[in-house]
Amino acid sequence: MSEQLNFKHKYVPSSDPTKGKTVLLLHGTGGNEESLIPIVEMVLPDAAILSPRGQIMENGMPRFFRRIAEGVFDLEDLKFQTQELAIFIEAASKTYGLESNEVIALGYSNGANIASSVMLTYPELISKAALFHPMIPFVPENPPDLSNTSILITAGTNDPIVSREETLELNNMFQDYGAEVEIFWHDSGHNLTREELDKTKNFLSES
Ligand code: MLT
Repeated sequence: MSEQLNFKHKYVPSSDPTKGKTVLLLHGTGGNEESLIPIVEMVLPDAAILSPRGQIMENGMPRFFRRIAEGVFDLEDLKFQTQELAIFIEAASKTYGLESNEVIALGYSNGANIASSVMLTYPELISKAALFHPMIPFVPENPPDLSNTSILITAGTNDPIVSREETLELNNMFQDYGAEVEIFWHDSGHNLTREELDKTKNFLSES
């Protein structure tokens, strides 16, 4: 992979570099590199933050890959954008001196979907992930080894975009690939709730 800072992004240095954690922050459709920064400040305040802006524009709204319809993904573009993001993570790690840091993905909705896609394609890049309201991005042909990865999935029982079945299937898929996975349910919809952020804070504080 060639090295280039190929995404517009925001980088926030760690307030305690000895902790050695970087949050790869991935916004939802219509968000940008600033949208979720207050959430990281809440759930993992000492971490460095690497927050790219999705390169795809859908009716003026940034996203991380193209879709054909709600929940129907353009798999070729997903593959390309997943590789682009992997290139970005490696290049940004070198540029900001984060190479020895643990990379923790925190993504919401479309950002959670590209985070899963990166983990399924480049399992060595991310060791921990909090996925807010994810879907199954694609089913890999070759099973990745996720035995060093721990994942929190949060989901709403009344989510109009992500069904309960899809959440459970994603959980099972990650488990089949060796990941340690936990689902946190709340009874709201696709929105983030205080209780899921509290849960995320606990999950991220576990070593
Ligand atoms: C996606 O397109 O990644 C999902 O449908 C979530 C979203 O609406 O962004």
